[in-house]
Amino acid sequence: MDKKMILSGLQPSGIMTLGNYLGAVKNWVKLQNEYDCLFMIADMHALTVPQEPVNLRKRCYEVLALYMACGLDPEKSTLFFQSHVPQHAELSWALTCTTYMGELSRMTQFKDKSKNAKDTGVGVGLFVYPVLMAADILLYQANLVPVGADQKQHLEITRVLAERFNRLYGDVFTIPEPYIPEVGARIMSLQDPTKKMSKSDSNPNGYVSIVDEPEVIIRKLKRAVTDSDTRICRGEGKDGIENLMSIYSIMTDKTFEEIEREFEGKGYGDFKLAVGEAVAEGLRPIREKYNELMNNKDYLKEVYTKGAQRASRLASKTLRKVYRKLGFVDRT
Ligand code: TYM
Repeated sequence: MDKKMILSGLQPSGIMTLGNYLGAVKNWVKLQNEYDCLFMIADMHALTVPQEPVNLRKRCYEVLALYMACGLDPEKSTLFFQSHVPQHAELSWALTCTTYMGELSRMTQFKDKSKNAKDTGVGVGLFVYPVLMAADILLYQANLVPVGADQKQHLEITRVLAERFNRLYGDVFTIPEPYIPEVGARIMSLQDPTKKMSKSDSNPNGYVSIVDEPEVIIRKLKRAVTDSDTRICRGEGKDGIENLMSIYSIMTDKTFEEIEREFEGKGYGDFKLAVGEAVAEGLRPIREKYNELMNNKDYLKEVYTKGAQRASRLASKTLRKVYRKLGFVDRT
């Protein structure tokens, strides 16, 4: 039987963070053994906020190298740049025409991001962003979409758009399911544990970059904001500690109960140092592999070229069906 399909992606709008890794990419690495996986670098999504072209191009290479350094294997998974497969934009337009303004106005990420864009004006791209994301997923008839919790609403609208299209024009799209991890789906800022860790945080102490040096990682975790209590456990007002426990749990494969026992009677200082060391050690091989890959642009080029060829083949099959259903004349 054919393997089930997975599609996911990350925006190259900043360097990959520990949140991206624990909430998404680490799971992708596991899933690639069981599913037919496509992982893209969402460069077109990155344009929804202003980007310096030189930086964007650099980030695109970085994200591809990081995908592989984290363990995505181009022999198993299809790795590609979104902009190399024009069918994303084409399907996005078709879906835009069956999407309601009200549906997009309700997206919490749009509301948050448009607040920050008050000075520059709110771009239409930011508004229609979830439709492009739906196109990414539906083009490949993805069954499963592994993402962090912040993308859940975008997955819901993807399902709504797919069901609507199928109802209006006849069955074309597979209805995708989100795949959100139990621990790590929402890694919080180290400086404000009520906000998610984000690569666009203006304070670099709020996030750990996947390629931070070990001393930097340990320093950032030592400075992590916690609370005035002393116990290492979950509870009311203990968002900072719970966040560090989630990070430590994933990095060490220990349960929350094991962590509580390990640090019983110890202070926050000991705990934060242990989390810092676990993260620094866990990311060390990724950083080393990343540096190696960044020095081998020819190999990166080979990977993304092959990736786009396969992705285009799959995408054009779906788009052909969509265009026929919509009533466009077949291309000869
Ligand atoms: P992006 O680039 O914001 O994030 C990439 C992935 O990382 C997850 N993530 C987190 N997980 C846990 N804790 C955090 N603090 C954290 N921050 C980010 C995100 O949930 C995501 O899974 N729109 C997407 C990119 C995209 C996409 C797609 C994803 C474009 N097309 C199609 C899936 C399918 C985005 O902006 O992710």
